[in-house]
Amino acid sequence: MLKIRHLLGLRGVCKEDIEKILDTADKFYDILNGENPVTDSLKGKTVVNLFYENSTRTRISFELAEKRLSANPLNFSVSGSSVSKGESLKDTVENIEAMKIDMVVIRHSASGVPGFLTEFSNAVVINAGDGFNEHPTQALLDIMTIRQKLGRLKGVNVAIIGDILHSRVARSNVWGMKTLGMNVTLCGPSTLLPQQPELLEVKTTTNLREAIADADVVMLLRLQLERQDVGLFPSVREYRQLYGLDNEKLSLMKKDAIVMHPGPVNRSVEIASEVADCARSVILNQVTNGVATRMAVLSLLGRKSDEV
Ligand code: CP
Repeated sequence: MLKIRHLLGLRGVCKEDIEKILDTADKFYDILNGENPVTDSLKGKTVVNLFYENSTRTRISFELAEKRLSANPLNFSVSGSSVSKGESLKDTVENIEAMKIDMVVIRHSASGVPGFLTEFSNAVVINAGDGFNEHPTQALLDIMTIRQKLGRLKGVNVAIIGDILHSRVARSNVWGMKTLGMNVTLCGPSTLLPQQPELLEVKTTTNLREAIADADVVMLLRLQLERQDVGLFPSVREYRQLYGLDNEKLSLMKKDAIVMHPGPVNRSVEIASEVADCARSVILNQVTNGVATRMAVLSLLGRKSDEV
């Protein structure tokens, strides 16, 4: 059993809970690769996937995870709903809950919305990404992938490169990795680094070569091109030269270091195509592990037992 009732973020989640989720995800990974990839873990449970923001990987893998657990998934997207008639989030959730649901998976552009839901909903709430705050299942699948590839977590050096300031993925990874004894370095242009890095208690640098030299894991983040007009970096060309991972910079990394990216990827911006597709890239392994990780989170929070 987990100590948490909802998964709102990895900040404050204890090591035992994170390890329980990772171990359960490993079991589901084996089940998914076996002859019968479906379990009865959430039979009879209804899970509503409330996506107020676009998603490919997270939305599809949650739905697939729910189906693999024999739950009943209901998909809600803003377009085509009564949100377009002005219905509030609270009214939307209360009306859906009146139809008797057990769990809500929510993605929203505003930080804190999953926590807000827990104030008036009886359902278990899972954060699928809220604003710039957290994306906990992404970090869990990232950490699962690192353990799978490197065979260890404690003491592993991770360099997270790019738009840290706006990245909920970076924030969840920092909280989770620190709890597990991993060493995180955040790297990017000073305008895209957190303004109070001491609050995260991790190293920061604007020098990519310094960040990747000792890294066992180099995680690139999507450059949020939609923010370019705010003037946070001079040009995409300059960003690519300084922070884009290409073959030349890859050659400076440790020989067994792996390359990660949560997606969606801007090819030829933060990562060159030949690096995204190279043998050291585990980007598609991350996507595969997303299903097992989300099965673990859903089943551990949706049931009263640890059995898969
Ligand atoms: N990594 C991630 O959250 O991707 P999506 O936005 O496609 O879900």
